[in-house]
This record gives sequence, C-alpha cells and structure tokens, in this order.
Amino acid sequence: MTPRTHTCGQLRQDDIGQTVTLAGWVNNYRDHGGVRFIDLRDREGITQVVFHPEAGDAHTLAQKLRHEDVIAVTGKCIVREGGENPKLPTGKIEVDVTSLTVLNKAETPPFTPDDAHKVGEETRLRYRFIDLRSPRLQDILRTRHRVTKIMRDYLDEHGFYEIETPFLCKSTPEGARDFLVPSRLQPGAFYALPQSPQLFKQMLMVSGFERYCQIVRCFRDEDPRADRQAEFTQLDLEMSFVTQDDVMAINEGLVRRIWKEVLDVDVPPIPRMSYAEAMSRFGSDRPDLRFGMELVDVTEPCGRTEFKVFTGAIGKGGCVNAIRVPGGATMSRKETDALAEWVKQFGAGGLPVTKIEGGSVSAGIAKFIEPIAADLIAATGAEDGDLLCFGVDARPAVVRRVLGELRVKLAHDLKLIREDDWQWVWIVDFPLVEWSEEHKRWDSLHHPFTAPADDDLDRLESDPANVKSKAYDLVLNGSELGGGSVRIHSPQVQQKVFALLGIGEDEAREKFGFLLDALKYGAPPHGGIAFGLDRVVMHLCRTDNIRDVIAFPKTQTGADVMTAAPSPVDLTQLNELSLRVQTHHRRDREV
Ligand code: AMO
Repeated sequence: MTPRTHTCGQLRQDDIGQTVTLAGWVNNYRDHGGVRFIDLRDREGITQVVFHPEAGDAHTLAQKLRHEDVIAVTGKCIVREGGENPKLPTGKIEVDVTSLTVLNKAETPPFTPDDAHKVGEETRLRYRFIDLRSPRLQDILRTRHRVTKIMRDYLDEHGFYEIETPFLCKSTPEGARDFLVPSRLQPGAFYALPQSPQLFKQMLMVSGFERYCQIVRCFRDEDPRADRQAEFTQLDLEMSFVTQDDVMAINEGLVRRIWKEVLDVDVPPIPRMSYAEAMSRFGSDRPDLRFGMELVDVTEPCGRTEFKVFTGAIGKGGCVNAIRVPGGATMSRKETDALAEWVKQFGAGGLPVTKIEGGSVSAGIAKFIEPIAADLIAATGAEDGDLLCFGVDARPAVVRRVLGELRVKLAHDLKLIREDDWQWVWIVDFPLVEWSEEHKRWDSLHHPFTAPADDDLDRLESDPANVKSKAYDLVLNGSELGGGSVRIHSPQVQQKVFALLGIGEDEAREKFGFLLDALKYGAPPHGGIAFGLDRVVMHLCRTDNIRDVIAFPKTQTGADVMTAAPSPVDLTQLNELSLRVQTHHRRDREV
C-alpha cells in the first residue's frame, strides 16, 4: 500500500493541485452519469473521492465498492466539481482518483455507522466494532481520551503520583455486592474485585506518598442503570495533611480546567449546601438546581383539614410537603392519575393534587383543602394556572423521595431545563450513619472509613443519628459526579465507628486488620475523593446513556454481547478451581 499522505479530514483549498493518498472506509457511494463518487471515511473525517471513466482500472474496480469496504486511493486534490458541501470541513475539495487499492472487502454490514441509531442497542453492541465507527461515538471516545489527559496533566502539576492498586484483592466495602474470583492455588478461597481502591489509597498515604491518583476500573455487582455499570471507571485520588477544604479546592480546579478546555465553559466558584438543606428543599442529596419546584413543608396547614389522608399520616408522625408545578393546571386528570401511579415505585400510596384557579384551589382534592387554600398559596407561592402536588406519608423520608423524584420527572416532561445550563453544588455535612430499618442497624452514608466531624466525636455512642461526617459530594445538574471524605486516621476512632456499624472486634480484625495495623504505625491525616469518569464524560458529551461513553459496555443483564460473556466454562477449569456449579444452574448444555 502506498503510504498515506493525509487523513480524510485534512484536505483544504490550499492542497489543491497536490497528489495525495488517502485510506479509509467506504461510507457511501453513488453514480452520476458514469462518474462514481465515494465518501471515504477515517477517524478524522470524510473526503469525497471521485472516479472518472478516464481512471481506467480504478474506475472499473470502483463500481464494485460497497459500504464499509476498506480502500486506499491516490489522486489529485481538485476543486469540488459539484459545488461546495458546507457540512464537511473538506467540503471545498475532492480527490480525482487515479489508482485504487481494495485493502479489504466488507460483507454487507448489519447496519452502517450512519444508520446505527436505527437498529436496536443489542445489535449495535453485538457489532460494536461497526457502531464505534460512527462519528458520534468516535467523538465521545476522543473526548474521553482528552478528559483523562487533562486529569493526568493537572494532577501531575499538583504533585500527584499515579500508582496502580490490585484488582485481585480483599473485599472493599462501598455498599454493593462484590464480584468474586476463585483462587486456584488456595482452593475454596476467593478474591474480590475492588469496588474502589479505597483502602489501598489510604495505605499509600500511610506509606508516605502524600498525593496519589489513579484512573481505575471499579467493579460493583449491582443492576445497571442509565448512569451505572457494574464495571466503571473512577478518577480516584487521595491527599495527606489536608482538610476537607483543601481536597475540595483541588477538585474544583480540576473540573474547572476540564470544562474550560473541552467545552470552553467557565465553572464559577461552586456553592455548598448542607445535606439537610438539600433533602428538605429538593428531596435528594444530589439536587438538580436547574429548575425550581422546591419542596415546601405544609404539614401545619394540612393538619388543620378534615382530609384523612393528611391527618392520618401526620398523626403517625409523618408530614405533608407540596411542590408547585408552574403552568401544570393544563394537565388532564389522566395525566395526573398517571403521575400518581408513577410515584408508587418510590413508596407513595398516591399523589394528591389540586389546581390553582381564581386565587383558590380547584379540582383534585380541592374540596378537602379549600379552608387552607390561602395558606397553601402563600406557602408555595402558587399562582393561577399552577398545579400543586402533595407528598404525604407517615415516613418523612418517603415524602422527600417521592417529591424529589417527581420534580425531576416533571422538569424533563415539561421541558423546563435549558440545555446549556450547568448547575454545580457541593453537598456537605452529611450524617455519618443512617438507620437501616431493613437490617436494624446503623449503616455508613459513605463508607466506614469516613471521619466524623470533630465536634461530634463524643456523640458517636450516645447520639449517632446526629453525628455529622467530613464527607462531600460533587453534584452537577442532579447527578453525583464524585464523592469523598476526610478519613479516620486514629485506630481508636476507627474501632468505635466499626462498633457503631455493628462490626465487632473480631470481625474488624479479620476484615480490616491491615487497616487497623496501618493506622497504628504512623498514619498521617488524609482525605480524598473519587469521580465517576464515565459520568464526567456523559455530561461533557450530553448523553444520558452511560453505554455511549464506554467502548465495550455491558447490557442491562450484565452481558457483553460481542464476546458472549459471561459464559459457561469447561469442567476442567471448574475442577482446577475446586468449584462445582449446582446442576439446576448449569448453562453449558444450552449454549
Ligand atoms: P463512591 O462510591 O461515591 O465513592 O463512587 C465515586 C463516584 O463513582 C461513580 N460511580 C459510578 N459510576 C458508574 N457506575 C457505577 N456503578 C458507579 N458507582 C459509583 C459516581 C460516584 O460519585 N471510595 C469512594 C471515594 C472516596 O471516598 O474517595 C467511592 O468509591 O460518580
């Protein structure tokens, strides 16, 4: 093959007259009166190449070219004869081909990169190598590469070392299920794939590295969601001799650099909001601040009505909150009934609503709340034409969750969100622990290594619910980009927190003995954070599907449909690992 002289995105008017060689894929082909036109595509772009009958063999051969054939062409760069194509950077020129080499014929592909959006995602993932040829995905992965380059450069400038940590390790609790790997050399024993490098990065601080970072794969055996994969990537970092403010400042600088370099968007100083405020105003610890519809506590006036749904819940220690949906009075009964059905997935019994008309309430539950209409209007700031939605339950957490989810849904449905709006917020002052009704125990809100606030240390045993932690989450447009904390560096405090979480001394020693030892032998104060790299790229590329930003993602059932993983293994492999699959789960005969 003649060496390439240019990429398919490179030629401009200045190159006219040059003899050039390009290589790439046949994106499109068409004939006009015996002249064959090919849109030739490579990573950098598309160039139109033309085969005139005078090109002889090349022209004849070109008749047989089809979608996704891989070719190389040599010819002269000339003015585009049919007029300029303003959509292409190369749109002013074309290449008048004199010689053509077919590097590889392609069978008729199941779809072309341009048409990938027309086929189901399963097909796209099965033929991911074709899907990934689409300019959109190439662009996303180019952006992903740039983001990791900026991260590494920035952190290097700030004195961080990138250090790798093991994948085959002991369970690191982040609240999800572990992926396990059986050991051949120690039959019956298992490694866990890391849910994050949390404890290793703490060990690196104890080892004296001061500033560590790593772009690292993490594994959590949880059900995938639009912004969640079982195998995802973090930018993980840790710093010694720092306060919460130091960690936040470094990371604010990092996102500022990324947003500026990738999108030319300025990130202003990022405001802070306490967990308590986020929960009471937005019903969520990752509040979307791009729109209003804040939660308003209307328990007091609602308690004065005869409406049993309200009074019953309040009587059981519950509450009533409302959100005002601007212009929502145009919604039909059918639409509000559908919302009532939708909120049930978050534990609500239903969704009482009313409309504001003529300065009072009408429709929905109006007849029950007429006496308090003025109070409701004053509390929510509602105006004629608005809809009021009520969250009511004996459990205040359910009320917040329901309205927190509902305001996000309504903002999307009613198109209240501006595309180019970036609303950043740090959530701080998290509680250290929360009570799990299901397990009847205190659970960490972050992880068990998060430091309690200094002022609350003496309340660890007496009043755990009111102990705050030194944790912080970075939230962008309602999505959690990253989270971290200052860590516990005293072995005594760590023991106390384990005890609070119901991890007894023996269990702590067995699971985290190395950590407790490390804390005893000179652990500096330290703290850090981890960003979800996939989520950062999702925001920058404005996609809400995490699979778009991962070259080879998994489907909803955790499958890689291209390589057909997971799949059964040979009996010999199982024997080597001293494993036996329960017969009713054996899939090797079916596949
Ligand atoms: P955390 O569990 O909050 O913290 O994770 C940090 C960030 O990682 C991203 N993330 C995910 N992204 C895609 N798919 C997933 N399944 C997934 N899970 C988490 C989120 C999240 O904010 N060791 C701590 C960090 C620390 O304390 O320094 C940790 O892993 O964007």
